[in-house]
Amino acid sequence: MTFHPLDEAGQWSGDRPFSVYIHVPFCASRCGYCDFNTYVLASQGPDAGQRYLRAAHGEIEAAASALAGHDARPASTVFFGGGTPTMLTPDQLGGLVRHVQQVWGLAPGAEVTTEANPETLSEEVLDGLLEAGINRLSMGMQSADRAVLKLLDRVHTPGRAVEMARLARRCGFDDISLDLIFGTPGETLESWRTSLRTALSADPDHISAYSLSVEEGTRLAARIRRGEVPMTDEDDLADKYLASEEILTGAGFVNYEVSNWARPSTGPDGLVDRHRAEHNMAYWLGHDWWGIGPGAHSHLGRARWWNVK
Ligand SMILES: C[S@@+](CC[C@H](N)C(=O)[O-])C[C@H]1O[C@@H](n2cnc3c(N)ncnc32)[C@H](O)[C@@H]1O
Ligand code: SF4
Repeated sequence: MTFHPLDEAGQWSGDRPFSVYIHVPFCASRCGYCDFNTYVLASQGPDAGQRYLRAAHGEIEAAASALAGHDARPASTVFFGGGTPTMLTPDQLGGLVRHVQQVWGLAPGAEVTTEANPETLSEEVLDGLLEAGINRLSMGMQSADRAVLKLLDRVHTPGRAVEMARLARRCGFDDISLDLIFGTPGETLESWRTSLRTALSADPDHISAYSLSVEEGTRLAARIRRGEVPMTDEDDLADKYLASEEILTGAGFVNYEVSNWARPSTGPDGLVDRHRAEHNMAYWLGHDWWGIGPGAHSHLGRARWWNVK
């Protein structure tokens, strides 16, 4: 039997904004703490990128025909998540943006985000991403402490994310976010405070600060089980969350969602909170979204479903 989400979704209300999530399941290397659905690109065969792109474009077509005649709306947000979407070239990402635009259209002022690892960026790549229609950059920085980055298996140096955030601004990005992780075993409160201040020194528009979650099946969980590394401590995590609130709010950011802080600013459209991650808000507000790519989740009307990983 062919699965048709709209059979399950019932009346697709048509009055909720529509978003598109595109999961890119590739990374240059695997961080020991991460259990996201991602694979080392080089281990997937020489044409893994091309096979992925064929499947992703095919899925956009399938989604568009499933929604045809159902009052489809232009996409308000598009989000490339991963993995590390910038393992694909800006042209390849641009091809996917154009395909979304062609089948659904993009709403005026649509937010188009890509996640990125600072190692994958350069001036040429950043210019290419802007040309591809990507207007928001969300970069994994995690920490400014070399020892913490090492424990997390991050391959970049502490300064790389800050350098790339500044370069992205010079290239013309108007919406830049940095991801940080707190509570890594061995990280002191002062080290975390320094990471927050260092992230702020890059002048980002948005900061995500996540408490380190120890996921079953990861290398980090195995190291903790073997006693090589201590387990995260809940009181330590709580203290660091409070420090985040103090430092980020003190810098004028607004904690608009549990782990997310945005610099308020008024855009030409008069919208004050324009640096909130609108795609993230779409999840919280129960909007409709279609997820493309392995493991991607979708939500339409009253139905939720997800792709095999
Ligand atoms: C898909 S990654 C971002 C892009 C890129 N792959 C990178 O890591 O730079 C999304 C973010 O999830 C967070 N994350 C992943 N695993 C986590 C964990 N176990 N605990 C807390 N945060 C985690 C990291 O902050 C990471 O930047
Ligand atoms: S944290 Fe980012 S770079 Fe590291 S494995 Fe996960 S998705 Fe890949």
